Amino acid sequence: AALVTVMFHLGEMATATQSLDESTFQILGEEIGWNIQIVSAEEEDKELLQQFDIDLDGEELQEDEDLKPRPPVVTVMGHVDHGKTRLLDTIRKTNVIEGEAGGITQRIGAYQVTVTLEGERRKITFLDTPGHEAFTAMRARGAELTDVAILVVAADDGVMPQTVEAINHAQAAKVPIVVAVNKIDKPGANPDKVRGQLTEFGLVPEEYGGNTMFVDISAKQNINVDKLLEAVLLTADADLDLRANPNMDARGATIEARLDKGRGAVATVLVQQGTLHVGDAIVAGTSYGRVRAMLDENGKHMEEAAPSTPVQVLGLTSVPTAGDLFLVAPDDRTARQIAEKRQATERAAQLAKRRKIVSLESLKEQ
Ligand code: GTP
Ligand code: MG
Repeated sequence: AALVTVMFHLGEMATATQSLDESTFQILGEEIGWNIQIVSAEEEDKELLQQFDIDLDGEELQEDEDLKPRPPVVTVMGHVDHGKTRLLDTIRKTNVIEGEAGGITQRIGAYQVTVTLEGERRKITFLDTPGHEAFTAMRARGAELTDVAILVVAADDGVMPQTVEAINHAQAAKVPIVVAVNKIDKPGANPDKVRGQLTEFGLVPEEYGGNTMFVDISAKQNINVDKLLEAVLLTADADLDLRANPNMDARGATIEARLDKGRGAVATVLVQQGTLHVGDAIVAGTSYGRVRAMLDENGKHMEEAAPSTPVQVLGLTSVPTAGDLFLVAPDDRTARQIAEKRQATERAAQLAKRRKIVSLESLKEQ
């Protein structure tokens, strides 16, 4: 009531439950001699987690000896029809043969493949959500998922608007790019032209003295796709120090989630730190639960998932949103409490938004 009175003296008719904008809060603070700090939703959530002794910037991420190499996480980008889906399919199919027999392969939004490079077996994780969605949606939530971007450019079409858009996204996120010059099997293919065009965007091929790897491929005929995967690993090794701590409570990002008739909420998550185990209590955004089972993209059950591993998780009590951070909580109760507090925050934010719309509309009517 005191604040409403102050507002009244400032010339604003406000109610006790009204939401105000930041500058009004600052003025209000000055009036009553309070120091007002506007806390972002992210900071607020960090504080909430700290109340439960969960520190997102904890020291387990700082100590060198805790950090172990992890596979790169790769996103495929490029213009419409240049062959992103076909490439992801080819990579996947060629690798399924290497994987476990049996099980029904299904699209879970991400998958992992094994590549032999210089006699060493190495893994690469692919985010199977082509285009910019994976990039933009995840980035908007502050979760940097992609380590390396494969830019697909059709050799018969060349650089197009969405090629440029993809370059901008990757460069803004400081993600190194490997160029896949695709459709080289087609009669009109001109891979050299693509190289020349991309030079203008700062992507200079190694053979021209630059530091971007270009690989001529045919996603359709599976030509040089293995070389492309090698180029991804070489680029990651040269430009990035990809390490994570496998010995801590797991956390990562929700890639996609849906409600399955028989199995309930099914979420594909990418583990970024720690190791996720069956039986762990988890929170993903406003949903929580206990990991009842974990499956890979071949439908094979897994007991644990290390950093950079994508897994399908069963056991959440509701469906999280793609991009939501997931983390392991010390116990079921904590997981539920964190989720419930977030639900309350979300409801309050929605109410505030609705009120603002209502008050704007009532202003218009006056
Ligand atoms: P959007 O998802 O619509 O942006 O397209 P996309 O980039 O995923 O392209 P997609 O993989 O669907 O390929 C488009 C068409 O190009 C399909 O008909 C593919 O079969 C064909 N295509 C893809 N790669 C090759 C290739 O290496 N050679 C030839 N000849 N055709 C290809
Ligand atoms: Mg596609």
